[in-house]
Amino acid sequence: MSDSRFSLRSATGDDTEFLADMLVAAVNWDPARPQASREQVLGDRLTAHYVEGWPRVGDLGALAVDTGGQPIGAVWLRLFSADDPGYGFVAANVPELSLGVVPPWRGRGVGRALLTEITRQAEASGFTRMCLSVERANRAFNLYAGEGFTTVESGPDSDTMIKIISRQ
Ligand SMILES: CC(C)(COP(=O)(O)OP(=O)(O)OC[C@H]1O[C@@H](n2cnc3c(N)ncnc32)[C@H](O)[C@@H]1OP(=O)(O)O)[C@@H](O)C(=O)NCCC(=O)NCCS
Repeated sequence: MSDSRFSLRSATGDDTEFLADMLVAAVNWDPARPQASREQVLGDRLTAHYVEGWPRVGDLGALAVDTGGQPIGAVWLRLFSADDPGYGFVAANVPELSLGVVPPWRGRGVGRALLTEITRQAEASGFTRMCLSVERANRAFNLYAGEGFTTVESGPDSDTMIKIISRQ
């Protein structure tokens, strides 16, 4: 369900801190586990490289903002190389998706709206696929599956999923 009390805009270079906040939220998606600190997330190359140097050439992103313009969620796509792959790495020309919504806004359609918007941006930029990694226990898994992502590789707890944007 969409919520008229938020709107979407493209992510800019001024949004790095909020993207980092959403990266920390994504790492800490399971409240039953010990939560990683921001310093840990940004100090570990495997997670920090999702936002390091934002925006890089080829990066795409969108923010959801409330009526006061405060960010409440973000989605972004970044290309990785085989030498420095993301958790959901598929190929160097397939950008990997990150997504997070601040807790008070979860379950109100923000995540789904952000996925629709980043798909539009990716298509407009000529990408044919996007990929991600998600733990199957995360409710985000059902959101991705419902938005057209399919599993291409299954690990013990996580799936790599892709969404075909265009077959061109
Ligand atoms: C995953 C996340 C981005 C989803 O964003 P959201 O704004 O809450 O999602 P939406 O409100 O658009 O809901 C989309 C779907 O998620 C599921 N969902 C939403 N709230 C739910 C809840 N409380 N319990 C179970 N499923 C829920 C539903 O399948 C929903 O589909 P519906 O619209 O048909 O009901 C958000 O929960 C989040 O930030 N989680 C922590 C970070 C994270 O896990 N990021 C992804 C890492 S891979």
